[in-house]
This record gives sequence, C-alpha cells and structure tokens, in this order.
Amino acid sequence: MQGRTVVLGVCGGIAAYKAVEVCRRLTDAGARVLPVLTRGATRFVTPLTFSALAAEPARTRLFDDPDDPIPHTRLGRRADLVLVVPATAGFCARYAAGFADDLLTATLLATRAPVVLAPAMHTEMWEHPAVRANLAVLAARGVTVVEPEVGRLAGGDEGAGRLADPARIVGVAGEILAARRDLEGVRVLVTAGGTREPIDAVRYLGNRSSGKMGHALARAAHDRGATVTLVTTRADAGPFPFPTVVVGTAEEMRAALRRRFADSDVVVMAAAVADFRPKAPAEGKWKKEDGVPEVVLEPTPDILAELGAAKEHQLLVGFAAETEDVVARAAAKLVRKRLDLVVANDVSTPDAGFEVDTNRAVLLDSGGPVSETPLVTKAELAGIILDQVAARLGRAGRDETPREQT
Ligand code: CTP
Repeated sequence: MQGRTVVLGVCGGIAAYKAVEVCRRLTDAGARVLPVLTRGATRFVTPLTFSALAAEPARTRLFDDPDDPIPHTRLGRRADLVLVVPATAGFCARYAAGFADDLLTATLLATRAPVVLAPAMHTEMWEHPAVRANLAVLAARGVTVVEPEVGRLAGGDEGAGRLADPARIVGVAGEILAARRDLEGVRVLVTAGGTREPIDAVRYLGNRSSGKMGHALARAAHDRGATVTLVTTRADAGPFPFPTVVVGTAEEMRAALRRRFADSDVVVMAAAVADFRPKAPAEGKWKKEDGVPEVVLEPTPDILAELGAAKEHQLLVGFAAETEDVVARAAAKLVRKRLDLVVANDVSTPDAGFEVDTNRAVLLDSGGPVSETPLVTKAELAGIILDQVAARLGRAGRDETPREQT
C-alpha cells in the first residue's frame, strides 16, 4: 500500500466508528488516505478524527470549499482505490442509480479507480430485495463488496449486516491495490462456450463446453485493466462488468467477431466452435411420424483461421483441445491458423477441459512450448495465459499504470 492513495468514504451508520480503525490501519500500511464524510457520517464521527489520523483534511462538502472548487474530480483522479466504510443502504441506492448529490457519490462517478464497499446495516435492510438489487448492479459494474458478518448490531439486535472486520476490509483493499494492471487500455475480445447448430426449430448439435475458461479469461483481463468484450454462447452466465454479446451458432460468432476485429488488440478464442453443422436445418419441428431424419453435415467456417489470415496488429490466441499427441497437434494448429499463442489441453482426463473448474495446459508459440501448468483452476490458467499475452505486448512487469496526478 506504500505510497498509494485511498479515498476513504464514510457514510452515516453506527459502524462509522469502525471506519476510524480502517483509516488507522491504512495509514499504518503506508497508504495516503483522503477521507470523505457524508453529512450522515458527521452525526456519528467527526471530520477531525479522520483529519488527525490521516494527516489530510477530511472533506465533507461538494460545494463551498474555498481551497478546492472541484473536489470530486480532483479526488476521483488521485485515487488508486475508493473504499466506502460503512456503505449504508441509502448510499448504495444512490450510487447504483448514479446520483452525484454529495461529495462521495460525485467522487465515485468521477473516478476510474477500483471501488470497494463494506456495507453495514440491520438484517432486515441487508436482506431487502431493493438492497440486494442495488448491490447486484454495483457488482456487475465491477465494484467489490466486502460482505458483512453475522453478529451484534445496533440496539442489541443480532443477525447478518454487521460490518466486516476492519482488518479484513483493509486486506481486501490491499489485494486490489496489489493486483496487476498490466493490460490497462488493451482491447481484448474473448469468446466462450460451445456453439449450437440447429437441426430443426427446436433441436441443435452442441458440445460440452461450459464457457468457464473463456469467462475466467474475460474476468481476469478486465481485472488487469483491459477493455474487454466477451462473445459467449452462455446467456445464463454473468452478469459481467464489461460488454457481453450472446450468440448461438458459429456463423453468429463469426459475424460478432468480424465486426469487432479491427478495433481489437488481442483475440482469445476459448469458444468450442462446432466444426460441423447440419447442412439444411428444417424450418419447423421434425415429427416422429416423418421417420428418422437423415442429417447431412457440412463444415462450419474456421473463425480463428479466418482471423489469422486477416490479422494486422492483433495478437491471436487459440485453444487446442486434444486427446492424443497434444503438443505436436497444437503446434500444427498454431502454424495453420497463424496464431501467436496456442493453449493446448488434454481433454481425455476427467479433471481437465470440459465442464470442470480445473484445467492442465501447455502453452506454445512458434518456438515451441513456453509454459506447462500442473492441474490449476481455470482462473489461475487465465492468469498464466494473460502473463504470456502481456509479455508479447511488451507489458510484462508493468504492475501498475501511474494515474494522473493533479
Ligand atoms: N475454432 C474456430 N472455428 C472453428 C473451429 C475451431 O475458430 N470452426 C477455434 C477454436 O475456438 C479454438 C481453435 O480454433 O481456439 C482450435 O479448435 P479445434 O476444434 O481444437 O481445432 P480444429 O482446428 O477444428 O481441428 P480438429 O478439430 O481437427 O482438431
């Protein structure tokens, strides 16, 4: 945390007194803390407490600060992280709705820094559908929520809604600040899931891909600062904090990628695109009394090979799901499809590949294998693949991009 700037928002709830402890822990860890108190917060704790601990003025007003005519943009730009402790139900509603009617909400709209909320409220409020919906909206936008604990609440009540332990809140803030931002500004297009090729109006030819690997890649790239677009066949996944396009067939996936290819820097084809599709799918539903249908197949377009042939500045990453001769076959695919990197996995073992949460892979480029993983989670494998991508973009070791200082 040394030298990093944390805007610490404090809202009006009894847990505001614990924000004092959070402030102290952040400064002890070397962070520069800029406290922002809502009007409600000042009913519970004083700005002076935070000013004294942070050695920075605690701000409370959007207007009328003679030293700082536009404090929200200044704070928003200086922040490496905005942390709100406690986040009350009313604050979450205003933030989710995009209000900018006090210094804290205006700062949150004016920042590109990651945001962490630590909610605290009575159990009935915490479980209210309106609060759940607001937090779901915020989580989908990439906000991290440190879930409250079960315990004693104001007025002697017991239940869920008690502010998470200050040490845990500071721990989460530290993890986010330590996270790599080495793909800041890189435009990454990721595909996920298996395509569905219609046989008739209700049936399709599909495969066992769950989309988990592609979704993990999209999330990891987003967390590292990339501008991500996900093209997935899984309408049931998400919500994701980046634009998502849901497609069905290989042809639809091809069209979605073609539209976005010129404006992409990296394309990761984790989707299991069907290699064959029914040549003439029936328009209606095939009836049993018509007899057993003869389904004639034709090849689908090889999307990745087409992108390989058309690529200019783009870095192309493909997958190779193999059951034997894994490395040699993957290397052949790399050449045939003009890829920069291929992720080869042996899908013959039950713990790797389709449907499961783990994978084992060999990464190859034109010089041969560059990395071989043991059995890892798909999130971990996503990180290993993106390390290779970052290295090829000349961004390895770039742990953070300095933010604009004003
Ligand atoms: N792929 C694609 N379009 C297709 C088929 C595959 O873009 N019609 C992509 C996949 O997303 C994957 C890579 O190509 O990134 C490898 O796919 P795979 O099916 O393993 O290889 P194929 O080249 O189709 O060869 P084969 O099935 O014979 O192993």
